[in-house]
Amino acid sequence: MQGCSTMTDSNHVRADDRGTGGILVTGADGEMGHALLAALSHRFLNKREIIAVDLRELTDDRDAHVSASYTGDISDPALAERIALAHDISEVWHLAALLSTRGERVPELALRVNVMGSAQMLKLAADSATRRGRPVKFLFPSTIAIYGVPTLEAKRAAGRVNEDQCMEPITMYGVNKRAVEELGRYYGKHYRQLSTDRLECTVDFRAIRFPGIISAETIPTGGTSDYGPEMFHAAAQGKAYTCFVRPDARIPFMTMPDAVRSLMELAQAPRESLTRETYNVSAFAPSAEEIAAKVREFFPKSNVRYVPTPERQRIVDSWPEDCDDSAARRDWGWKPEHDFDSAFSQYLVPSIRARYGV
Ligand code: SER
Repeated sequence: MQGCSTMTDSNHVRADDRGTGGILVTGADGEMGHALLAALSHRFLNKREIIAVDLRELTDDRDAHVSASYTGDISDPALAERIALAHDISEVWHLAALLSTRGERVPELALRVNVMGSAQMLKLAADSATRRGRPVKFLFPSTIAIYGVPTLEAKRAAGRVNEDQCMEPITMYGVNKRAVEELGRYYGKHYRQLSTDRLECTVDFRAIRFPGIISAETIPTGGTSDYGPEMFHAAAQGKAYTCFVRPDARIPFMTMPDAVRSLMELAQAPRESLTRETYNVSAFAPSAEEIAAKVREFFPKSNVRYVPTPERQRIVDSWPEDCDDSAARRDWGWKPEHDFDSAFSQYLVPSIRARYGV
């Protein structure tokens, strides 16, 4: 990864529009970044600065969604300093991360990007809050990978886990995300607790533990829930798919539009209605074979065979069957738009038919 960074200005924001501060999005070129930038820009472009950061340069269509973009490594302090000097940041949407399969292949890199990069962004948020004299919101996608069940029997017995159960992650990614949840809680409530001039709330940290996410537009890379989206995209393209988990493997999933909407809704919720920093969200929890059967309903020629990879199977087996999202429903009115059937019939299949012309 490079330490240097470049900055480009694409959409000019007038000085008098900057009162509410800029929105910094890391991992802007990633799978969720792609969908989130479109949603944020739909809402805020030309009203607030939207500043994107990614290791890769943004493609032109994504660049159109932002006011400024930086290319560089978020764990590089020089990059954070450069952004902080150039922009008045009032919100950070910190998406950049290495997912669970990739994290197991390069654990130290995952630790650096997922934890040290997040610490860097939390510090940027805290410094910005100190300058502004009010809290900076910090939105963070956490994951079901922070959970860990030791055996399949324990997984079945646990059923839908709430936010305080089964927290013994077995992946570097899960451990990293859990660590950042704790760092966020610290920056939110206790940062500089021995200083007399500290703000009551420096970083307004809000996190969602996402299930596997399925998008019709993009395919994830480096995750262990990737068999869901891969199976669907392969069928839509008329390709056979070899699934790396058993047919009975079960974890929760959600559509990308629901995932983005959940983050946007959590961001808008009044702080006083939130009883925790980190929330589960849930939508549907099919087995791999149930996904394959659903895909076959729409693409009858789809061809899935199962050749489980023991290492990746073990990771999926350690994640819960489903999550209890009653706290999110109660505190900020969370409700998924798509259940298992409508995810396919109303979102995935129509969008993918338009995309691949099938
Ligand atoms: N989608 C993530 C992964 O597979 C889990 O949150 O790593």
